[in-house]
Amino acid sequence: MGKIIMVASGKGGTGKTTAVANIGAALAASGSLTVLVDMDMGLRNLDIALGLESEVVYDFTDFTDGRHSLDDVLVKVGGRENLYFIAAPQTRPAAEIDGEKLAVLWERLRERFDFCIVDAPAGIGTGFAYASSGADEAVIVSLAETAALRDADRAVSAFIKNRETQDDQKKQKEDNSDKKNSENSEDTGENKPADSEPQKRELEIKLLMNRIRPDLIEKKLMPNIDECMDMISVPVIGIVPEDEELIRASLSGRLAADEPLSSAGTAFSNTARRIKGEHVPIMEFKRKSFFKKLAEAFKK
Ligand SMILES: Nc1ncnc2c1ncn2[C@@H]1O[C@H](COP(=O)(O)OP(=O)(O)OP(=O)(O)O)[C@@H](O)[C@H]1O
Ligand SMILES: [Mg+2]
Repeated sequence: MGKIIMVASGKGGTGKTTAVANIGAALAASGSLTVLVDMDMGLRNLDIALGLESEVVYDFTDFTDGRHSLDDVLVKVGGRENLYFIAAPQTRPAAEIDGEKLAVLWERLRERFDFCIVDAPAGIGTGFAYASSGADEAVIVSLAETAALRDADRAVSAFIKNRETQDDQKKQKEDNSDKKNSENSEDTGENKPADSEPQKRELEIKLLMNRIRPDLIEKKLMPNIDECMDMISVPVIGIVPEDEELIRASLSGRLAADEPLSSAGTAFSNTARRIKGEHVPIMEFKRKSFFKKLAEAFKK
């Protein structure tokens, strides 16, 4: 059974789509069968990040509405082994999505792929709820700034709350069907194990810090990672630097994860390895130069 990971943020423009494309490409390159699902309804752009804008014909509502098969809505990402994509509808509002049919989509993807990475819309509204509805794990992307971190914290709380609501609804459904069965079979319930509470699913929520600038941290113009961690109590799965190479790569239709010289690409690839359970130390961006150390030594 595969794993569904939602990539979300409270604040917009933190780098979710960039993270989904790069982490997805790295997972696929490492041999994991991966599907990337754009859930940013109306504002989709994961297709552009993957260079697929002219290849998208169907979106996930074509499957959830029963018009097309899963194979029809899956797009193979050209030139990449193991990587598939499903588009978001361009016009349809999130309010019109049928939650039960979406649950079927998540189950089918879980059966078929090792990883399903979901690109959530910014914020914690209806779109976020749908994007999180099948997720086993969440990666919350934030910038190192107070507003983004506070919104990231809200996204964490919203994910936990959605999960609790889903679990309660599931339990209620199970209780109702148990009740029906026992009414039909006159079962007294005596044979039921005492601890028949459904197992609470383990919640995995991680923080991905993006567009980090060591030069600004050094000048105390950006909070450092420890200061960020004081604002949000979620473990970090990756720290991605601001990287011009990433912008250069995307302008020429490539991904940073493919560029050995891109520090952001390396950070995204390392994040993918951590997602797979590998122990990869968090990258140190910039060591103090020899001359700087020397100057500091003379100051003492
Ligand atoms: N590490 C990085 N270094 C430089 N630029 C970056 C980095 N990460 C993201 N960007 C740039 O930031 C912009 C926003 O990124 P992206 O579209 O991935 O954000 P998003 O969170 O998906 O936005 P939205 O909330 O609108 O969906 C893009 O132009 C992207 O190229
Ligand atoms: Mg996006």
